[in-house]
Amino acid sequence: MFEELKTLQAKTGERQILSLFDDNNRARDFSVTALDMLFDYSKTNIDAETRDALLALVDRADVASRCEAMFSGQKINETEGRAVLHTALRNLDASVIVDGNDVMPGVRETLDRMATFADAVRKEEIKAPGGRAFTDVVNIGIGGSDLGPAMGVLALAPYADGPRCHFVSNVDGAHIHDTLKDLNAATTLVIVASKTFTTIETMTNAATARDWIASHCGSDVAGDHFAALSSNLDKTAEFGIDPARVFGFEDWVGGRYSIWGPIGLSLMLAIGPDDFREFLAGGAAMDAHFREAAGIENMPLMLALVGIWHNQLCGHATRAVLPYDQRLSRLPAYFQQLEMESNGKSVAMDGSQLDCNSGPIVWGEPGTNGQHAFYQLIHQGTRVVPCEFMVAAQGHERDLAHQHDLLLANCLAQSEALMRGRSLEEAKEKVAGKFAGAELERQASHRVFAGNRPSTTLIYPKLTPKMLGQIIALYEHRVFVEGVILGINSYDQWGVELGKELATALGPIVTGDESADSKDGSTKQLVAYIHAHKG
Ligand code: F6P
Repeated sequence: MFEELKTLQAKTGERQILSLFDDNNRARDFSVTALDMLFDYSKTNIDAETRDALLALVDRADVASRCEAMFSGQKINETEGRAVLHTALRNLDASVIVDGNDVMPGVRETLDRMATFADAVRKEEIKAPGGRAFTDVVNIGIGGSDLGPAMGVLALAPYADGPRCHFVSNVDGAHIHDTLKDLNAATTLVIVASKTFTTIETMTNAATARDWIASHCGSDVAGDHFAALSSNLDKTAEFGIDPARVFGFEDWVGGRYSIWGPIGLSLMLAIGPDDFREFLAGGAAMDAHFREAAGIENMPLMLALVGIWHNQLCGHATRAVLPYDQRLSRLPAYFQQLEMESNGKSVAMDGSQLDCNSGPIVWGEPGTNGQHAFYQLIHQGTRVVPCEFMVAAQGHERDLAHQHDLLLANCLAQSEALMRGRSLEEAKEKVAGKFAGAELERQASHRVFAGNRPSTTLIYPKLTPKMLGQIIALYEHRVFVEGVILGINSYDQWGVELGKELATALGPIVTGDESADSKDGSTKQLVAYIHAHKG
């Protein structure tokens, strides 16, 4: 699939990215500006010829018609026979037909119900059964039912003026224990967020939360402390949640794409319906850009092609997402699910084995913290990690603008350092006053930076609700384009199933109710250790 590009990649050889800036227009020509954002990919080894060849991949894979198929509600999730319509949750004026029905009236009605509920909780019109306002919200969910709202609530903290939001995801009892221990059950609203309402972690934590509420407030009123976000209305009723407090969504919203709908309720409670609509508007603006902008002016497309270049052609297995924004500290985890659950597949849509690698390993942490942890390897390790920096030109703390300047300087310094590196000669100059002779050589060699390491920078004015919506939708479409080019289904996640099945089977073995005899030697040994030390 990548023959021509492989030849071009080989041709780049030892070419220094820095040398590409001999062209004074390099930065401008290898950037995309849209929706007040600037995506600069000029610090990569992509040149005009490579870019053309990458764009040819887009045509060959017919990304454009696949894109329209997605937006128009065709069942592009072919292994599950489902449409992929998270975009419908934010393009509220559209009309989208699935199985002969326009899904949009339902989307708008659910959004209005969420807004009415969120407003009433925020204005203290809906109160806890004991008559006190809800001061705290605990969202219980995992994966897409946790990462999106948890990331969003933190990202948009400057806009939060509603109840405090907490997130419990792990089946590890420590998580719910440590969350509930500081809360007052009498003023806590629990949101059980699960598309399927069968996920073992979520249902176990939900039962623990119900017992906690019941033990403090009485089991007769426990249900009034709950709301649910789910497409499984039978199960929410079985759990005892009032249908008026259940916000449903359809099977065409994938878990990792679900922040735009009911799964975003905790975010809406935190920032209010108006700002939540701004967030949706940001996603919709990026959708319009993605559908309309041509080739090199299309930001998600170019972000995807840079990803394909680094992962498939240069062979860099991982990519680091490095937001210079403390409030985006959950964004790398959010992107991990978005990218790795979507494109971590080795089988093409038609069931054949992929003839290329699956999507990359995504990881990261906010700068500047990462600089004092793992950047050592990024700068001097033997393997290249393409870095994706992102930063706002302006922080929210106007009185701390000097700190934001430092943040910006650090962000820019890292991409420059990665590209420039430091030669042995330069390193020697640095230490010449301290060492001499062989020791000078030795000391200098440790201070050499290979340089020529690629990075991109996404910069935007300020992290507003609308901008966050744009950023999330940008990455969603990037994942979509990469998936289409690789020929995989980005919208199923069969790879999580086997572990779930085995965990169910191991439950009674861990408790000692069943024997471990059928298991392999390692598993048996671990079970024996558990039984010896469980206490
Ligand atoms: O196990 C993976 C997964 O299905 C994710 O795709 C999803 O986001 C998560 O579990 C949670 O699922 P649910 O919302 O149904 O509880």
